Amino acid sequence: MVFFNKISRLPPDPIFQLTPLFQADTHPGKINLGIGTYRTIEGTAYLLESVKEAEQAIFEQEKEKSYLPIIGDPSFLEAVISLVFGERNPRIAAVQSIGGTGALRLAADLLKPMILYLPHPTWENHARIFQQAGLEVRCISYPYRQEDLEKIPEGSALLFHASCQNPTGIDPTLPEWEALAALCQRRRLLPFFDVAYQGFGGTLDDDVASVRLFAKTGLEMIVAYSFAKNMGLYGERVGMLAIVSDHPQEVLSHLSEQARGTYSTPPLHGARIVTRILTHPETLCHWHEEIKTMHDRTYEMKNTLVAELEVKGAPYDYDQIRMQKGLFCYLDLEEEKVLALRQEKGLYLGPGGRINVTGLHPHNLEAVVDTLS
Ligand code: LMR
Repeated sequence: MVFFNKISRLPPDPIFQLTPLFQADTHPGKINLGIGTYRTIEGTAYLLESVKEAEQAIFEQEKEKSYLPIIGDPSFLEAVISLVFGERNPRIAAVQSIGGTGALRLAADLLKPMILYLPHPTWENHARIFQQAGLEVRCISYPYRQEDLEKIPEGSALLFHASCQNPTGIDPTLPEWEALAALCQRRRLLPFFDVAYQGFGGTLDDDVASVRLFAKTGLEMIVAYSFAKNMGLYGERVGMLAIVSDHPQEVLSHLSEQARGTYSTPPLHGARIVTRILTHPETLCHWHEEIKTMHDRTYEMKNTLVAELEVKGAPYDYDQIRMQKGLFCYLDLEEEKVLALRQEKGLYLGPGGRINVTGLHPHNLEAVVDTLS
C-alpha cells in the first residue's frame, strides 16, 4: 500500500531557509542579515544573563516536571498580563501559548470562519498561520490608509503589530492609534494585536501603549504575545494569548478546549523562566538592563548603517528609514533584487530587503554598505 505517492513537494520557508542556505554557501564574503534573531556585537546569539540567573534558581528549586494546567501556569499568566496591560482586567481570558505563533493560531481557531485583514507587508508567516486555521485572509496596504480601512466589512478582524511593525518598522503614532481604535469601534472591527518586540522600539511601556490604549476603550480585542525576542527565548516557545471581552470565562473554556485538542498542555521550562524573571525584582532589574542593551545596540547599528549608506549616496528613502523602529532596517526591495544580492554577493536579507541590523558588526559593516550602495 502506498499512501504518499501523490504528495507534492512544497517550497521551503522563505525566512527559515536562509540559515541552512547561508551555512552551505561557499561565497567567501557571505553575510547573514536574514532571520530576525538578536546578535551581539561579536556576531553571536545572545543567551541573556537574566535568563541564566532564572534558570539557575529554577534548577536549584524545582522538584518535578509535572504537567501545567491546560491554560498554563497561573502565576505566569498574571505576570505577563501585568507586563502587557499594566493592570489586572477582569475582562481578560488568557492562556499560555507555544510561542507567539501558537497564540496567533489559537486565536485563529476561535475566530474562524471570520475574515481577517492583514497589513501588507507583514510578517511572512502571518497569512500561513491564519489560512491554515481556516480564516479568510485579505490584505490592505501598510501603512494603513483611511480609504482602505473604511472599506473593511463590519465584523472583520484587523491585525496590528503593537510596535516595531515587521518588516517595515513603521508604527502608528499615538493619535493614529486613537483614530484606529475609534475606527474599530465605529465599524465594529475586532482589533488583533501581535506583540513580538516589546522593548525593541522604545521602552517596555512605549511598545505596548497601543494595546493599553485599545484596552481602555472597552473594545473586545485579541493580544498574541511572544517572549522569543525580548527574553531571547526563541527555542523555548513561550508566549501568551489574551482575549478581552465581556465573557472571559466562556472564551477561556473554548481556548482550553482548543489547546487540549491541539497540544494538551503548554511547555513548562520557558514559562518558569519568564515567571521567575518577572516576579523577582533583582532578576527583573537585570532583564530591564539587558533589554536596554539590546535596544541600544540595535539603534546604534541601524544609525551607523543608514549614515554610511547616505554618505555613499545609495538611493534609499532615508526619511522613511529614520522613522523605522526595532530590529530591522527595511529597504523595500523587489524579491529579484533580494535574490540577486544573495546569489551574487552572498548577502542574505529577509523578504523585501529586510536587514536584521544586529547581524552587523565592525567587521562586516563596510562590506554591507558597499554591496547595498
Ligand atoms: C523573523 O521575522 O525573522 C522572525 O520572526 C523569525 C520567524 O519566525 O520568521
